[in-house]
Amino acid sequence: MIRRVTTNDAPDLLRSPSGESVVWAVADADPLPAWVAADALTPSELERVARTTHPQARAQFVRGRTVLRAALGVRLALPPHSVPLVLTADGKPVLDPAIGFDLHFNVSHTDGVALFAVGPVPVGVDVEVHRDGRDLFGLVDRFFTPDEREQFRALPAELRAAAFLRGWTGKEAILKGVGCGVRELANCAVDLDPRRPPAVRRSPDGADWKLTGWVEAEVAFAVAVR
Ligand SMILES: CC(C)(COP(=O)(O)OP(=O)(O)OC[C@H]1O[C@@H](n2cnc3c(N)ncnc32)[C@H](O)[C@@H]1OP(=O)(O)O)[C@@H](O)C(=O)NCCC(=O)NCCS
Repeated sequence: MIRRVTTNDAPDLLRSPSGESVVWAVADADPLPAWVAADALTPSELERVARTTHPQARAQFVRGRTVLRAALGVRLALPPHSVPLVLTADGKPVLDPAIGFDLHFNVSHTDGVALFAVGPVPVGVDVEVHRDGRDLFGLVDRFFTPDEREQFRALPAELRAAAFLRGWTGKEAILKGVGCGVRELANCAVDLDPRRPPAVRRSPDGADWKLTGWVEAEVAFAVAVR
């Protein structure tokens, strides 16, 4: 259902789809893989780059969109800059429905790494670096549902940082899969217990979302597929 692959293996799996969603991470420190052409952005994307003053946000967008266009281009057998992307009303980039190709994807960036997923069903991804010193109770009270808050407080203190990341990335992956953004936060809940496999408790669209998550070097990754 979700296949984690290396960046170098992604194009082969995209060319011969197996019915699974293909997920891979690209570290900012790594050179772009050979299958990713550097000049993939469209004029409107280049305008966005020119308008983005924050250097890190600009670099993340350029890299993320370049890899995304390359991957979709492999799957659709199109030059990357010709892949027709449009935004939904909530700002989610999707393939232009006019081309009649049922292909889904999502991207997430954080300091040092980006996560990509492409597949035959709606998918959402999130990646988040663990940061010491965050007010976890404050964030949980602000962004999590009442049942999640209760579960968070009941967990042993030493599990709370992992539980927070589990919840934050899992909820965000579902919200991004649905494409509704944070306005549906109250209708999105996951199991926070990091000792168990990730699980969805409530999704904004009521659909059956499956969650996968893993942690590598203090970075939490989450993928939700419908
Ligand atoms: C905009 C949002 C979709 C993601 O924001 P984010 O966490 O800052 O950013 P990420 O790096 O994970 O994702 C950004 C990418 O998601 C995609 N995206 C944008 N809007 C989207 C939407 N409505 N649905 C799905 N994907 C979306 C884009 O590809 C974007 O990258 P791009 O601009 O380079 O193309 C939105 O969910 C948000 O504002 N989140 C804020 C964080 C938050 O409150 N989280 C609560 C979790 S409990």
